[in-house]
Amino acid sequence: MKNKQDQFKKITAHCKEYGYIFQSSEIYDGLSASYDYGPYGVLLKNNIKEYWWKAMVQMHENIVGLDAAILMHPKVWKASGHVDAFNDPMIDNKDSKKRYRADTLIEDYVANKVDAKIEKEVAKARKRFGDAFDEAQFRATNGRVLQYTKKREDIISRFVKSMETNELDGLKDLIEELGIACPESGSKNWTDVRQFNLMFAMQFGALASDAEDSQVYLRPETAQGIFVNFLNVQKTTRQKLPFGIAQIGKAFRNEIVARQFIFRMREFEQMEMQFFVKPGTELKWYEYWKEQRLKWHQAIFPAHKLKFHKHEKLAHYANAASDIEFEYPFGFKEIEGIHSRTDFDLGEHQKLSGRKLQYFDSEAQESYVPFVVETSVGVDRLFFAVVANSLQEEQVPDAKGGMATRVVMKIPPVLAPIKVAVLPLLKNKPELTAKARKVFDKLKFVTDCQYDEKDAIGRRYRRQDAIGTPYCVTIDFDTLEDDTVTVRDRDTLEQIRLPIDALEGYINKILSFNQLFA
Ligand code: GAP
Repeated sequence: MKNKQDQFKKITAHCKEYGYIFQSSEIYDGLSASYDYGPYGVLLKNNIKEYWWKAMVQMHENIVGLDAAILMHPKVWKASGHVDAFNDPMIDNKDSKKRYRADTLIEDYVANKVDAKIEKEVAKARKRFGDAFDEAQFRATNGRVLQYTKKREDIISRFVKSMETNELDGLKDLIEELGIACPESGSKNWTDVRQFNLMFAMQFGALASDAEDSQVYLRPETAQGIFVNFLNVQKTTRQKLPFGIAQIGKAFRNEIVARQFIFRMREFEQMEMQFFVKPGTELKWYEYWKEQRLKWHQAIFPAHKLKFHKHEKLAHYANAASDIEFEYPFGFKEIEGIHSRTDFDLGEHQKLSGRKLQYFDSEAQESYVPFVVETSVGVDRLFFAVVANSLQEEQVPDAKGGMATRVVMKIPPVLAPIKVAVLPLLKNKPELTAKARKVFDKLKFVTDCQYDEKDAIGRRYRRQDAIGTPYCVTIDFDTLEDDTVTVRDRDTLEQIRLPIDALEGYINKILSFNQLFA
């Protein structure tokens, strides 16, 4: 655990030191759960968004883009259910004065105190029985595993019932009966559970009035901008079902607990795609998109750091839902949600607006409200995952024949903020710096480059390693003779010699998004 906390601290410190992420309004001691993306952060973030946009919009003939306004008519949030039901149950610890989500306390208890024990028993048995181990049979028959599984089922069924029926006392009873303590102080002295609406409300226009529609909300999800534009997009692009609408944009939630760096913020960015399908086919498409989205993540993260988590309690609009979880320094947590949202949103907007939101199916010769499968991933959570997965300390040979520690960000090259650093071997040799400038002026048309001549070459390599630059191009005295340069690979430390004229082709090939799509 200490290692994980260290890793978390190293990530936040590195992000600040190398211009990835700064605390918002830092000179005023910051605003909690708000962060600014620095010069390298914004480049990485843009590359992540491009990877998603290409995978969704460019690679699918039947997915088109949209950029809807953040502020929408207040009735949108009434119809979507957010005004009445976008609540989190919160609970305070009277001694530590810390506030928690009651549902998260219970879910964490199940994961850490029940599921973890089942997995421990299974792991022990696997070790004992070796190749002869029949895991399915063990899970179905072992006394202790059955005991824990029963306990899990009991907790989950009470938990789901309390959440669905909004029985807040039931949640408090469960927290007390399970002996759940405040993670900070160990105290079990809890307040009652209360509901807390997560939407930020604000006054619209110059004059505040009591009129219902002068109160607007900062959107808590981008999806509703897609739903209300469903027919506009379908008609103008002449799409037939199934088809999707993709959007990237800011969303805002007044989160109860927001203490995990950019994992849970009050202002964040989502990349959402709503896939409109014929009613009755939605669960097939739900499975399809689960598979597709997992593959997309697997192209940038190791498979063992990703897993599915099926929702025990479904949101008010869903008939199936799963998260893709990533192993963050604080454990497996949601990075993306895949939801089968039924016809709930379009149906409710149709009712409240009085406008038809139906699709005419020319084959079946009938009109209906399509069903929707949604994929929704947080840009900031992806960013965090990329950094957490990339940041490493390793031993490498130093110039004196010994070993030295280097800090390196092994970001997938195509996502790296700076792709190529152009470095003259020595600063005080005008013929080298002039040549290096020429190479830089050529390459800046190809990709994001940086020119750096300050400090010894070894220190400049380290600086680029820490930023995550996959390739360093060094201009030395041989370059002046034969127009070749050294290209150093960040990960393998191998150096190859290439003609300057071949650089563009080399870079375009290895730094193409096709590497990920392959
Ligand atoms: N439209 C569906 C929807 O918004 P969600 O599971 O609440 O579903 C989708 O959010 C994704 O948005 C999450 O998987 C997560 O990556 C991101 N997200 C949600 N709340 C966030 C927050 N407070 N800070 C950062 N990212 C967040």
